Amino acid sequence: MERLQKVMAEAGVASRRASEKLITAGRVTVNGETVKKLGTKVAAKDKIEVDGVPIHQEKHVYYLLNKPREVISSAHDEKGRRTVVDILKDDEIEERVYPVGRLDYDTTGILLLTNDGDLANKLMHPKFEVNKTYVAKVKGLITNDALKQLRLGVKVDGHRTKPAKTRLKETDRAKRISIVQITIHEGHYHQVKRMFEAVGYPVMKLHRESYGFLNLQGVQPGDYRELRPEEVKKLKGM
Ligand code: URA
Repeated sequence: MERLQKVMAEAGVASRRASEKLITAGRVTVNGETVKKLGTKVAAKDKIEVDGVPIHQEKHVYYLLNKPREVISSAHDEKGRRTVVDILKDDEIEERVYPVGRLDYDTTGILLLTNDGDLANKLMHPKFEVNKTYVAKVKGLITNDALKQLRLGVKVDGHRTKPAKTRLKETDRAKRISIVQITIHEGHYHQVKRMFEAVGYPVMKLHRESYGFLNLQGVQPGDYRELRPEEVKKLKGM
């Protein structure tokens, strides 16, 4: 038996907090009865409806994908471009998964997909500060001063970015490019690209190599694997 708001969040209805509001507003029924009391426990066999629409209580699945370039990180694309969800659908994975956060169309690397809305909401919440490590190929020979600015925080769209970690991996003097590893835990739109832009080194290529304790070992671009139960447990405990 689990709390109603948790089951609703896991089914992707809304966050736990927003689900509580739906419950107290009298919009949720369990086996046909309106339930307004928070903390009501429900079982898998119970029929839960929100505004008369049954919620989807699927078995939870968790995948780690190595996103290739030119794929959209959402479940649908208005322009009909290939999405990360299409990659799984090709293998007839039937659960309605969606990505945990986003990578740009041209960014490659690690992306989690799940139908566990509760865990997804949690991981995306800034409070949990999941470390994400990227490798950026940037235009120009980056200076120590620029790396220090990135570490301390730079102004992006009127807000200062939180402290980051950086490591210069390589520079190519002839081609005038640098390869920099950067770890951040925020996830604003185009964050890494805008951070490098702010210090004067535009990103040419971006790859995310790790997400929290997870990395892409053994997973080729365009491939994915299921998370192991202990990995799911660890994510839930983060
Ligand atoms: N930062 C970016 O700029 N792009 C991404 O895809 C991810 C982080």
